[in-house]
Amino acid sequence: MPDASTTSNDKGEQKDFGIGIPVETKGFFLKGSAHLGWGMQNRLSRIFNPESGRAVMLAFDHGYIMGPTTGLERIDLAIPPLAGYADCLMCSRGALQSCVPPELNKPVVMRASTGATVLKELSNEVIGVTVEDAVRLNASAVTAQAYVGAEGERASLANLAYLINEGNRYGMPTLGVTAVGKEMVRDSRYLGLACRVIAELGVHFVKTYYCDPGFDEVVAGCPVPIVIAGGKKIPEIDALTMAYKAIDQGASGVDMGRNIFCADDPVAMIQAVRAVVHKNEKPEKALELYNTLKCERSKACACAASK
Ligand code: 5RP
Repeated sequence: MPDASTTSNDKGEQKDFGIGIPVETKGFFLKGSAHLGWGMQNRLSRIFNPESGRAVMLAFDHGYIMGPTTGLERIDLAIPPLAGYADCLMCSRGALQSCVPPELNKPVVMRASTGATVLKELSNEVIGVTVEDAVRLNASAVTAQAYVGAEGERASLANLAYLINEGNRYGMPTLGVTAVGKEMVRDSRYLGLACRVIAELGVHFVKTYYCDPGFDEVVAGCPVPIVIAGGKKIPEIDALTMAYKAIDQGASGVDMGRNIFCADDPVAMIQAVRAVVHKNEKPEKALELYNTLKCERSKACACAASK
């Protein structure tokens, strides 16, 4: 029998409607995302930690233009030990379905652009993954590059527009990446322009490069969250310092690849980056953590080898 009474349940007990307690109407923790739909906000909450409002994304999509990059020759060996320390993985469809165990249960930002390699003009891309397929693979966002000011500017912005339009139908956020063409300078003027252009197009978050000076202005001029790319491998202290400065100037996280998986000890490095991103750890302290973890891990390896 349905419970028809409005004042008591079928055992005669009083119902509790919490009369007098107003329904809480909360905002949303991410910049520029308060008016998005539930599906979008839920997916973004998988990528960005709602407590810190930040994300450590682990990027290993390099093979889609570079082939077997150093450090990623075997994605199936390189990524699973790191995944537990990442908030989110960024990779291609092929890498995901062939090398990433589904049981890792990590949110994925899926690279959806293709059509160019390092052997030719990089900005000449098209979209190669449908949002429907990204949904099927349980992605939490899709992504493509914007080549603002480069030969493929128009095509790359059209790619992003396509992803945004399709993604909106499914509640799937789009990450816009500002790729820097050969003739472009990675300064705040250029990066600020590129970030703003793709944010106005409707991307839900932006990946760009850190720049000094003026990164705080790049962040302020971009109405959605920014995560920084790591770029080429640099010494650990420099990568941690860059992450620290970016966070300090308003970045919402990092999407780092080579500076993690090419580090001397990638597992220690991702934990040090995490400390910077989520706990505002100073670079020197984060390096100490890196060295301690590295040392403990090499002792554990030596110990295991001697058994
Ligand atoms: C290429 C990408 C890459 O995923 C990303 O930039 C690589 O990360 P990193 O530079 O830290 O190795 O988006 O445009």
